[in-house]
Amino acid sequence: TKNGYDHYMLKEIREQPHALRKCLRGRVDAPGRSVSIDAVEAITEPNHVHFVACGTSYHASLYAARLFRERGMRATPFLASQYDLDAIPIGTDTLVVGVTQSGETADTVSALQVANDVGATTLTVTNVVGSSATREADHAMYIRAGPEISVAATKTFVSQQAALAMLSSAFSGECTREFVTGIRALPDRIQSILDQSRAKAIAAEYADADAYFPIGRGSNAAAALEGALKIKEITYKHAEGFPAGELKHGPLALVTDRTPVFAIVDGDSEAETMIGTLNEVDARGAPVIAVTDCPETIEPHADHVLEVPETDSRFTPILATVQLQLVSYWIANRLGRSIDKPRNLAKSVTVE
Ligand code: M6R
Repeated sequence: TKNGYDHYMLKEIREQPHALRKCLRGRVDAPGRSVSIDAVEAITEPNHVHFVACGTSYHASLYAARLFRERGMRATPFLASQYDLDAIPIGTDTLVVGVTQSGETADTVSALQVANDVGATTLTVTNVVGSSATREADHAMYIRAGPEISVAATKTFVSQQAALAMLSSAFSGECTREFVTGIRALPDRIQSILDQSRAKAIAAEYADADAYFPIGRGSNAAAALEGALKIKEITYKHAEGFPAGELKHGPLALVTDRTPVFAIVDGDSEAETMIGTLNEVDARGAPVIAVTDCPETIEPHADHVLEVPETDSRFTPILATVQLQLVSYWIANRLGRSIDKPRNLAKSVTVE
């Protein structure tokens, strides 16, 4: 049941702290102790890691591949539907990770099949025990998010990100205090966003906009793409996410006073460059909503701030995602959309 909520989507957004606690349990228990993932113990160290996934799960893969690379591993995300078509070289020393909430996405399952056929090792990171992806892959890791009813993925996205972050730590054998503290604090930090978010008021102010452009740099670019997908799916309005650096290479032509720009700004790594981008956007008259952990620095350059708690930069995209989920939910709610079952979409896409 919806437990008193109007929509499963809002219920599932609010379940995120609980879902994450389940995802972390027994895997990252104490600072100083390494992350333990059963599947990883059975896998010999790969030379290259490929992620294959669709939609939201692809955005989790963009995020994950970057974490793996930060730890010195070769890792590349691919859209599952393009994997076989793009002549990607797959070696027997490649680990192919199929990231799929449902475990039933045809494109992802067939990408795993392609990998198995050439003798690569395969792993699926999924929410559903016994799903097709678990049967196709050599190994499985479960995100333990619990059932997700809403077509728009929310709690399963943050659980995928946390699971993949743990996977990067387990593979690299590197588990710093910052990592453990940061990941273990995620449930409480998300709870504090849920308790205090001003997303509903922002949504009310901009529900009649022409289009929405979430932007971010580095791993926040993946969060921007995900924010835009969420807005598109449930509001039926044009939204496009961009790595912030790309804005001036074309998309800036779309920016007007009717296109709010949601800028994810991490105070540790990107504030200065992002301020330049915000000023450019502001000069075109666009409303700027900053999703940031450094409100004092950014406030002078933004019309509104949606605050996220400070954390290790690796986890900022996860927190920013929660604010953008709420923005998309409240815009769709205001527009009276069919939030849990958007037109033309299915929860899992079982045809290629
Ligand atoms: O079950 P999967 O994670 O394999 O599904 C992949 C996509 O179809 C899915 O993420 C889709 O983009 C969602 N509706 C996003 O909210």
